[in-house]
Amino acid sequence: MRVLVVGSGAREHALVRGLLADVGVDEVLAAPGNAGIALEVPVFPLDVADADAVAALAEDLAVDLVVIGPELPLSVGATDAVRSRGIACFGPSKSAAVLEGSKAFAKQVMAAAGVPTALAHVCGDLTEVGRALDAFGAPYVVKADGLAAGKGVVVTADRATAMAHAEACLAHTGAEVLVEEFLDGPEISLFAVTDGTDLVVLAPAQDFKRVGSEDTGPNTGGMGAYSPLPWAPANLIELATERVLEPVVREMSHRGTPFTGLLYAGLALTTRGLRVIEFNARFGDPETQAVLARLESPLGDLLLAAATGRLSVLEPLRWSTSAAVTVVVAAPGYPGEPRLGGSINGLPAAAAVPGVSVLHAGTARVAGGFVSAGGRVLSITGVGPDLAAARDRAYAGVAEVDLAGAVVRPDIAQRAAAGLISTP
Ligand code: AMP
Ligand code: GLY
Repeated sequence: MRVLVVGSGAREHALVRGLLADVGVDEVLAAPGNAGIALEVPVFPLDVADADAVAALAEDLAVDLVVIGPELPLSVGATDAVRSRGIACFGPSKSAAVLEGSKAFAKQVMAAAGVPTALAHVCGDLTEVGRALDAFGAPYVVKADGLAAGKGVVVTADRATAMAHAEACLAHTGAEVLVEEFLDGPEISLFAVTDGTDLVVLAPAQDFKRVGSEDTGPNTGGMGAYSPLPWAPANLIELATERVLEPVVREMSHRGTPFTGLLYAGLALTTRGLRVIEFNARFGDPETQAVLARLESPLGDLLLAAATGRLSVLEPLRWSTSAAVTVVVAAPGYPGEPRLGGSINGLPAAAAVPGVSVLHAGTARVAGGFVSAGGRVLSITGVGPDLAAARDRAYAGVAEVDLAGAVVRPDIAQRAAAGLISTP
Protein backbone atom coordinates (compact mmCIF):
# COMPACT_ATOMS: atom_id res chain seq x y z
CA MET A 1 0.00 0.00 0.00
CA ARG A 2 1.19 3.51 -0.90
CA VAL A 3 0.02 6.25 1.44
CA LEU A 4 0.06 10.03 0.97
CA VAL A 5 0.03 12.14 4.13
CA VAL A 6 -1.27 15.68 3.62
CA GLY A 7 -0.06 18.44 5.93
CA SER A 8 3.14 19.96 7.28
CA GLY A 9 3.15 19.83 11.06
CA ALA A 10 4.63 17.60 13.73
CA ARG A 11 1.29 15.75 13.73
CA GLU A 12 1.92 14.77 10.11
CA HIS A 13 5.51 13.88 10.95
CA ALA A 14 4.13 11.53 13.64
CA LEU A 15 1.67 10.04 11.14
CA VAL A 16 4.51 9.49 8.65
CA ARG A 17 6.62 7.76 11.33
CA GLY A 18 3.67 5.59 12.36
CA LEU A 19 2.98 4.57 8.77
CA LEU A 20 6.67 3.83 8.10
CA ALA A 21 6.59 1.47 11.09
CA ASP A 22 3.67 -0.48 9.58
CA VAL A 23 5.04 -3.45 7.59
CA GLY A 24 1.82 -3.44 5.54
CA VAL A 25 2.71 -0.02 4.15
CA ASP A 26 5.14 -0.17 1.22
CA GLU A 27 5.63 3.50 0.68
CA VAL A 28 4.84 6.75 2.47
CA LEU A 29 4.75 10.09 0.67
CA ALA A 30 3.93 13.53 2.06
CA ALA A 31 2.69 16.86 0.74
CA PRO A 32 3.76 19.49 1.37
CA GLY A 33 5.50 17.95 4.39
CA ASN A 34 8.26 19.85 6.14
CA ALA A 35 12.04 19.82 6.32
CA GLY A 36 12.05 16.97 8.86
CA ILE A 37 9.53 14.83 7.00
CA ALA A 38 11.63 15.35 3.85
CA LEU A 39 14.53 13.58 5.55
CA GLU A 40 12.44 10.40 5.74
CA VAL A 41 10.04 10.24 2.79
CA PRO A 42 9.57 11.91 -0.60
CA VAL A 43 7.69 15.21 -0.32
CA PHE A 44 5.74 17.10 -2.98
CA PRO A 45 4.67 20.75 -3.15
CA LEU A 46 0.95 21.22 -2.52
CA ASP A 47 -1.51 23.97 -1.73
CA VAL A 48 -3.57 22.16 0.90
CA ALA A 49 -6.36 24.73 0.53
CA ASP A 50 -6.94 23.48 -3.03
CA ALA A 51 -9.09 20.33 -2.85
CA ASP A 52 -8.60 19.45 -6.53
CA ALA A 53 -4.85 19.84 -6.23
CA VAL A 54 -4.86 17.33 -3.35
CA ALA A 55 -6.89 14.85 -5.41
CA ALA A 56 -4.80 15.38 -8.56
CA LEU A 57 -1.58 14.74 -6.64
CA ALA A 58 -3.01 11.58 -5.09
CA GLU A 59 -3.93 10.35 -8.56
CA ASP A 60 -0.54 11.29 -10.08
CA LEU A 61 1.26 9.46 -7.29
CA ALA A 62 -1.06 6.44 -7.67
CA VAL A 63 -1.52 6.11 -3.92
CA ASP A 64 -3.97 3.70 -2.31
CA LEU A 65 -4.79 5.90 0.64
CA VAL A 66 -4.66 9.62 1.43
CA VAL A 67 -4.45 10.65 5.09
CA ILE A 68 -5.40 14.27 5.68
CA GLY A 69 -3.86 15.90 8.75
CA PRO A 70 -5.05 19.52 9.04
CA GLU A 71 -8.54 21.01 9.11
CA LEU A 72 -8.10 23.37 6.17
CA PRO A 73 -8.13 20.77 3.34
CA LEU A 74 -11.04 18.98 5.06
CA SER A 75 -13.03 22.21 5.23
CA VAL A 76 -12.61 22.81 1.48
CA GLY A 77 -13.62 19.28 0.50
CA ALA A 78 -10.29 17.56 -0.17
CA THR A 79 -11.70 14.23 1.06
CA ASP A 80 -14.63 14.44 -1.34
CA ALA A 81 -12.30 15.33 -4.21
CA VAL A 82 -9.94 12.42 -3.47
CA ARG A 83 -12.83 9.94 -3.14
CA SER A 84 -14.38 11.14 -6.38
CA ARG A 85 -11.23 9.88 -8.12
CA GLY A 86 -11.75 6.45 -6.60
CA ILE A 87 -8.98 6.76 -4.00
CA ALA A 88 -9.56 5.91 -0.33
CA CYS A 89 -9.23 8.91 1.97
CA PHE A 90 -8.93 9.12 5.74
CA GLY A 91 -10.84 12.23 6.78
CA PRO A 92 -14.40 13.51 6.86
CA SER A 93 -16.24 14.95 3.88
CA LYS A 94 -16.65 18.71 3.63
CA SER A 95 -20.18 18.49 5.07
CA ALA A 96 -19.08 16.32 7.99
CA ALA A 97 -16.04 18.50 8.76
CA VAL A 98 -18.46 21.31 9.65
CA LEU A 99 -18.56 19.62 13.04
CA GLU A 100 -15.24 21.37 13.61
CA GLY A 101 -15.72 24.35 11.29
CA SER A 102 -18.84 25.67 13.00
CA LYS A 103 -19.21 25.57 16.74
CA ALA A 104 -22.89 26.51 16.34
CA PHE A 105 -23.43 23.46 14.09
CA ALA A 106 -21.63 21.24 16.61
CA LYS A 107 -23.99 22.52 19.31
CA GLN A 108 -27.00 21.62 17.12
CA VAL A 109 -25.69 18.11 16.53
CA MET A 110 -25.06 17.63 20.24
CA ALA A 111 -28.52 18.91 21.12
CA ALA A 112 -30.10 16.52 18.62
CA ALA A 113 -28.01 13.60 19.86
CA GLY A 114 -28.47 14.37 23.56
CA VAL A 115 -24.73 14.87 24.12
CA PRO A 116 -23.79 16.85 27.24
CA THR A 117 -21.98 20.13 26.50
CA ALA A 118 -21.63 23.66 27.88
CA LEU A 119 -24.78 25.77 27.62
CA ALA A 120 -24.24 28.41 24.97
CA HIS A 121 -25.83 31.53 23.54
CA VAL A 122 -25.18 32.26 19.88
CA CYS A 123 -24.98 36.04 19.66
CA GLY A 124 -25.17 38.28 16.59
CA ASP A 125 -24.38 41.61 18.26
CA LEU A 126 -22.77 43.09 21.36
CA THR A 127 -26.03 43.71 23.19
CA GLU A 128 -26.78 40.00 23.07
CA VAL A 129 -23.21 39.23 24.11
CA GLY A 130 -23.51 41.49 27.14
CA ARG A 131 -26.76 39.84 28.20
CA ALA A 132 -25.31 36.34 27.80
CA LEU A 133 -22.17 37.21 29.79
CA ASP A 134 -24.29 38.51 32.64
CA ALA A 135 -26.59 35.49 32.53
CA PHE A 136 -23.67 33.05 32.97
CA GLY A 137 -21.43 35.22 35.17
CA ALA A 138 -17.62 34.91 35.46
CA PRO A 139 -15.43 33.22 34.37
CA TYR A 140 -16.53 34.26 30.89
CA VAL A 141 -16.06 32.08 27.79
CA VAL A 142 -16.29 33.76 24.37
CA LYS A 143 -15.70 31.87 21.11
CA ALA A 144 -15.56 32.83 17.45
CA ASP A 145 -17.80 30.63 15.31
CA GLY A 146 -15.32 29.38 12.75
CA LEU A 147 -11.90 27.85 12.25
CA ALA A 148 -9.39 29.65 14.41
CA ALA A 149 -6.60 27.12 15.03
CA GLY A 150 -7.43 26.94 18.74
CA LYS A 151 -6.89 30.67 19.14
CA GLY A 152 -10.46 31.90 18.76
CA VAL A 153 -11.42 31.33 22.38
CA VAL A 154 -11.04 33.68 25.33
CA VAL A 155 -11.65 32.49 28.88
CA THR A 156 -11.41 35.39 31.32
CA ALA A 157 -12.65 36.72 34.64
CA ASP A 158 -12.70 40.23 33.16
CA ARG A 159 -15.95 41.28 31.51
CA ALA A 160 -14.30 44.02 29.43
CA THR A 161 -11.80 41.52 27.98
CA ALA A 162 -14.67 39.17 27.12
CA MET A 163 -16.58 42.01 25.41
CA ALA A 164 -13.49 43.11 23.49
CA HIS A 165 -12.92 39.57 22.15
CA ALA A 166 -16.58 39.30 21.13
CA GLU A 167 -16.32 42.64 19.34
CA ALA A 168 -13.17 41.52 17.51
CA CYS A 169 -14.83 38.23 16.48
CA LEU A 170 -17.94 39.98 15.18
CA ALA A 171 -15.89 42.57 13.30
CA HIS A 172 -13.49 40.00 11.85
CA THR A 173 -15.83 37.30 10.65
CA GLY A 174 -19.04 39.29 10.58
CA ALA A 175 -20.52 36.01 11.74
CA GLU A 176 -21.77 34.94 15.12
CA VAL A 177 -20.03 34.59 18.41
CA LEU A 178 -20.73 32.03 21.13
CA VAL A 179 -20.91 32.88 24.81
CA GLU A 180 -20.67 29.73 26.91
CA GLU A 181 -21.08 28.45 30.39
CA PHE A 182 -17.65 27.89 32.00
CA LEU A 183 -16.69 24.25 32.39
CA ASP A 184 -14.59 23.47 35.46
CA GLY A 185 -12.49 20.33 35.85
CA PRO A 186 -9.64 18.70 33.92
CA GLU A 187 -9.71 18.46 30.13
CA ILE A 188 -9.20 15.33 28.07
CA SER A 189 -8.57 14.86 24.36
CA LEU A 190 -10.20 11.68 23.15
CA PHE A 191 -9.78 10.49 19.56
CA ALA A 192 -12.19 8.11 17.87
CA VAL A 193 -11.32 6.62 14.50
CA THR A 194 -14.60 6.03 12.68
CA ASP A 195 -15.82 4.75 9.34
CA GLY A 196 -19.17 6.48 9.76
CA THR A 197 -20.79 3.55 11.54
CA ASP A 198 -18.29 1.82 13.80
CA LEU A 199 -15.65 3.49 15.88
CA VAL A 200 -12.39 2.66 17.63
CA VAL A 201 -11.29 4.85 20.52
CA LEU A 202 -7.59 5.70 20.88
CA ALA A 203 -5.74 6.15 24.17
CA PRO A 204 -6.78 9.39 25.89
CA ALA A 205 -4.38 12.32 26.12
CA GLN A 206 -4.18 15.71 27.73
CA ASP A 207 -3.15 18.84 25.85
CA PHE A 208 -1.68 22.09 27.22
CA LYS A 209 -3.33 24.95 25.35
CA ARG A 210 -2.05 28.00 27.19
CA VAL A 211 1.42 29.29 26.39
CA GLY A 212 2.58 29.76 29.99
CA SER A 213 3.27 27.58 33.01
CA GLU A 214 0.27 26.62 35.11
CA ASP A 215 -2.09 27.51 32.27
CA THR A 216 -1.33 31.21 32.09
CA GLY A 217 -1.14 33.46 29.03
CA PRO A 218 -2.95 33.21 25.72
CA ASN A 219 -4.24 30.06 24.03
CA THR A 220 -2.01 28.42 21.45
CA GLY A 221 -2.31 25.54 19.01
CA GLY A 222 -0.99 23.34 21.86
CA MET A 223 2.31 23.42 23.81
CA GLY A 224 2.56 19.77 24.82
CA ALA A 225 0.63 16.60 25.61
CA TYR A 226 0.88 13.28 27.36
CA SER A 227 -0.75 9.87 27.38
CA PRO A 228 -2.05 7.88 29.21
CA LEU A 229 -3.97 9.75 31.93
CA PRO A 230 -3.31 7.90 35.20
CA TRP A 231 -5.86 10.11 36.97
CA ALA A 232 -8.76 9.47 34.57
CA PRO A 233 -11.74 7.46 35.82
CA ALA A 234 -11.54 3.77 34.86
CA ASN A 235 -14.80 3.99 32.89
CA LEU A 236 -13.82 7.13 30.93
CA ILE A 237 -13.66 5.48 27.50
CA GLU A 238 -16.85 3.52 28.04
CA LEU A 239 -18.68 6.61 29.29
CA ALA A 240 -17.43 8.86 26.50
CA THR A 241 -18.23 6.23 23.89
CA GLU A 242 -21.81 5.81 25.12
CA ARG A 243 -22.60 9.42 25.93
CA VAL A 244 -20.63 11.28 23.27
CA LEU A 245 -18.89 9.41 20.47
CA GLU A 246 -21.54 6.89 19.42
CA PRO A 247 -24.44 9.35 19.57
CA VAL A 248 -22.55 11.88 17.43
CA VAL A 249 -21.51 9.27 14.85
CA ARG A 250 -25.15 8.07 14.69
CA GLU A 251 -26.52 11.60 14.41
CA MET A 252 -24.11 12.55 11.60
CA SER A 253 -25.02 9.41 9.71
CA HIS A 254 -28.73 10.05 10.31
CA ARG A 255 -28.32 13.53 8.76
CA GLY A 256 -26.90 11.99 5.61
CA THR A 257 -23.41 13.33 6.32
CA PRO A 258 -21.67 10.35 7.90
CA PHE A 259 -18.49 11.29 9.72
CA THR A 260 -15.49 9.22 8.68
CA GLY A 261 -11.94 9.78 9.82
CA LEU A 262 -10.88 11.14 13.17
CA LEU A 263 -13.51 12.45 15.56
CA TYR A 264 -11.67 14.39 18.24
CA ALA A 265 -13.71 15.09 21.36
CA GLY A 266 -12.37 17.76 23.69
CA LEU A 267 -13.95 16.78 27.00
CA ALA A 268 -14.11 18.32 30.46
CA LEU A 269 -14.65 16.23 33.59
CA THR A 270 -16.72 18.75 35.49
CA THR A 271 -18.37 18.67 38.89
CA ARG A 272 -21.60 18.10 36.97
CA GLY A 273 -20.26 15.24 34.89
CA LEU A 274 -18.65 14.73 31.51
CA ARG A 275 -19.11 17.64 29.08
CA VAL A 276 -17.97 18.23 25.51
CA ILE A 277 -15.92 21.40 25.04
CA GLU A 278 -15.54 21.03 21.29
CA PHE A 279 -15.16 18.61 18.42
CA ASN A 280 -12.40 18.58 15.87
CA ALA A 281 -12.55 16.68 12.62
CA ARG A 282 -8.88 15.62 12.61
CA PHE A 283 -6.05 14.37 14.75
CA GLY A 284 -5.05 16.83 17.49
CA ASP A 285 -1.63 18.41 17.49
CA PRO A 286 0.38 17.78 19.73
CA GLU A 287 -1.73 14.95 21.28
CA THR A 288 -1.19 12.74 18.21
CA GLN A 289 2.57 12.80 18.77
CA ALA A 290 2.08 11.34 22.28
CA VAL A 291 -0.77 8.96 21.43
CA LEU A 292 0.86 7.39 18.35
CA ALA A 293 4.10 6.90 20.28
CA ARG A 294 2.18 4.29 22.29
CA LEU A 295 0.20 2.59 19.52
CA GLU A 296 1.54 -0.90 18.77
CA SER A 297 -1.03 -1.93 16.15
CA PRO A 298 -0.30 -1.12 12.50
CA LEU A 299 -1.40 2.45 11.79
CA GLY A 300 -1.94 2.02 8.03
CA ASP A 301 -4.33 -0.84 8.66
CA LEU A 302 -6.39 1.25 11.07
CA LEU A 303 -6.63 4.30 8.82
CA LEU A 304 -7.42 2.25 5.72
CA ALA A 305 -10.12 0.30 7.57
CA ALA A 306 -11.75 3.59 8.60
CA ALA A 307 -11.50 5.02 5.09
CA THR A 308 -13.06 1.93 3.53
CA GLY A 309 -15.81 1.09 6.05
CA ARG A 310 -14.14 -1.99 7.51
CA LEU A 311 -13.56 -1.02 11.14
CA SER A 312 -15.95 -3.72 12.38
CA VAL A 313 -13.49 -6.41 11.27
CA LEU A 314 -10.37 -4.73 12.64
CA GLU A 315 -8.61 -6.47 15.54
CA PRO A 316 -8.68 -4.59 18.85
CA LEU A 317 -5.85 -2.06 19.08
CA ARG A 318 -2.76 -2.90 21.09
CA TRP A 319 -1.13 -0.23 23.25
CA SER A 320 2.25 -0.02 24.90
CA THR A 321 2.10 0.19 28.70
CA SER A 322 4.72 2.96 28.45
CA ALA A 323 3.87 6.62 28.90
CA ALA A 324 4.62 9.33 26.35
CA VAL A 325 5.17 13.04 26.89
CA THR A 326 5.43 15.54 24.04
CA VAL A 327 6.92 18.99 24.54
CA VAL A 328 6.56 21.64 21.84
CA VAL A 329 9.46 23.94 21.05
CA ALA A 330 8.00 27.17 19.65
CA ALA A 331 9.61 30.21 18.05
CA PRO A 332 10.29 33.30 20.17
CA GLY A 333 7.17 35.47 20.32
CA TYR A 334 4.77 32.52 19.83
CA PRO A 335 1.74 32.61 19.79
CA GLY A 336 1.62 36.35 19.05
CA GLU A 337 4.12 37.30 16.36
CA PRO A 338 6.64 34.47 16.18
CA ARG A 339 10.10 35.54 15.00
CA LEU A 340 11.26 33.08 12.36
CA GLY A 341 14.57 32.28 10.75
CA GLY A 342 16.47 31.41 13.95
CA SER A 343 19.02 28.65 13.52
CA ILE A 344 18.29 25.33 15.19
CA ASN A 345 21.15 23.24 16.50
CA GLY A 346 21.45 20.05 18.52
CA LEU A 347 18.80 18.01 16.70
CA PRO A 348 20.95 14.87 16.34
CA ALA A 349 21.89 15.05 20.04
CA ALA A 350 18.22 15.39 21.00
CA ALA A 351 17.23 12.40 18.87
CA ALA A 352 20.07 10.38 20.41
CA VAL A 353 18.62 10.67 23.93
CA PRO A 354 17.22 7.19 24.73
CA GLY A 355 13.45 7.06 24.31
CA VAL A 356 13.30 10.42 22.53
CA SER A 357 11.99 11.22 19.09
CA VAL A 358 12.25 14.58 17.38
CA LEU A 359 9.41 15.60 15.11
CA HIS A 360 9.55 18.68 12.92
CA ALA A 361 6.82 21.28 12.42
CA GLY A 362 7.93 24.79 11.40
CA THR A 363 11.47 24.13 10.21
CA ALA A 364 13.24 24.88 6.95
CA ARG A 365 16.45 23.49 5.55
CA VAL A 366 19.33 25.86 4.91
CA ALA A 367 22.94 25.19 3.98
CA GLY A 368 24.36 23.24 6.87
CA GLY A 369 21.24 22.90 9.00
CA PHE A 370 17.74 23.98 9.93
CA VAL A 371 16.08 27.28 10.77
CA SER A 372 12.71 28.00 12.33
CA ALA A 373 9.96 28.62 9.79
CA GLY A 374 6.73 28.48 11.80
CA GLY A 375 5.24 29.25 15.21
CA ARG A 376 5.53 25.71 16.52
CA VAL A 377 8.96 24.51 15.44
CA LEU A 378 9.46 21.02 16.89
CA SER A 379 7.72 18.38 18.98
CA ILE A 380 10.02 16.39 21.24
CA THR A 381 8.45 13.16 22.50
CA GLY A 382 9.85 11.09 25.34
CA VAL A 383 8.69 7.56 26.04
CA GLY A 384 9.34 5.83 29.36
CA PRO A 385 7.93 3.34 31.83
CA ASP A 386 5.83 6.02 33.53
CA LEU A 387 4.97 9.68 33.04
CA ALA A 388 7.80 10.91 35.25
CA ALA A 389 10.37 8.98 33.20
CA ALA A 390 8.80 9.98 29.88
CA ARG A 391 8.81 13.60 31.02
CA ASP A 392 12.47 13.49 32.06
CA ARG A 393 13.38 12.07 28.66
CA ALA A 394 11.34 14.60 26.71
CA TYR A 395 12.93 17.51 28.58
CA ALA A 396 16.38 15.94 28.24
CA GLY A 397 15.71 15.99 24.48
CA VAL A 398 14.51 19.60 24.63
CA ALA A 399 17.67 20.57 26.56
CA GLU A 400 19.79 19.41 23.62
CA VAL A 401 17.93 21.67 21.18
CA ASP A 402 19.40 25.08 20.67
CA LEU A 403 17.02 27.73 19.27
CA ALA A 404 17.59 31.24 20.62
CA GLY A 405 14.60 32.53 22.58
CA ALA A 406 12.55 29.36 22.08
CA VAL A 407 9.24 29.23 23.91
CA VAL A 408 8.88 25.96 25.86
CA ARG A 409 6.42 25.18 28.63
CA PRO A 410 8.38 23.66 31.51
CA ASP A 411 5.43 21.95 33.16
CA ILE A 412 4.04 19.53 30.56
CA ALA A 413 2.63 16.46 32.41
CA GLN A 414 4.18 17.70 35.66
CA ARG A 415 1.04 17.66 37.80
CA ALA A 416 -0.09 14.34 36.35
CA ALA A 417 3.32 12.75 36.97
CA ALA A 418 3.21 14.00 40.57
CA GLY A 419 -0.31 12.63 41.09
CA LEU A 420 -1.74 16.09 41.63
CA ILE A 421 -4.71 16.00 39.23
CA SER A 422 -8.00 15.17 40.84
CA THR A 423 -11.33 14.55 39.21
CA PRO A 424 -14.62 15.70 40.69
P1 AMP B 1 -11.91 25.35 21.80
O1 AMP B 1 -11.34 26.13 20.65
O2 AMP B 1 -13.39 25.35 21.87
O3 AMP B 1 -11.24 24.04 21.91
O4 AMP B 1 -11.37 26.01 23.14
C1 AMP B 1 -10.00 26.12 23.42
C2 AMP B 1 -9.77 26.01 24.90
O5 AMP B 1 -10.49 27.01 25.62
C3 AMP B 1 -10.27 24.69 25.49
O6 AMP B 1 -9.35 23.67 25.36
C4 AMP B 1 -10.46 25.08 26.93
O7 AMP B 1 -9.24 25.09 27.63
C5 AMP B 1 -10.97 26.47 26.84
N1 AMP B 1 -12.43 26.45 26.86
C6 AMP B 1 -13.25 26.40 25.78
N2 AMP B 1 -14.53 26.37 26.15
C7 AMP B 1 -14.56 26.38 27.49
C8 AMP B 1 -15.60 26.37 28.48
N3 AMP B 1 -16.90 26.37 28.13
N4 AMP B 1 -15.24 26.37 29.77
C9 AMP B 1 -13.93 26.40 30.13
N5 AMP B 1 -12.90 26.43 29.26
C10 AMP B 1 -13.20 26.43 27.95
N1 GLY C 1 -4.30 20.19 20.38
C1 GLY C 1 -5.45 20.88 20.01
C2 GLY C 1 -5.79 20.82 18.60
O1 GLY C 1 -5.21 20.10 17.82
O2 GLY C 1 -6.71 21.53 18.23
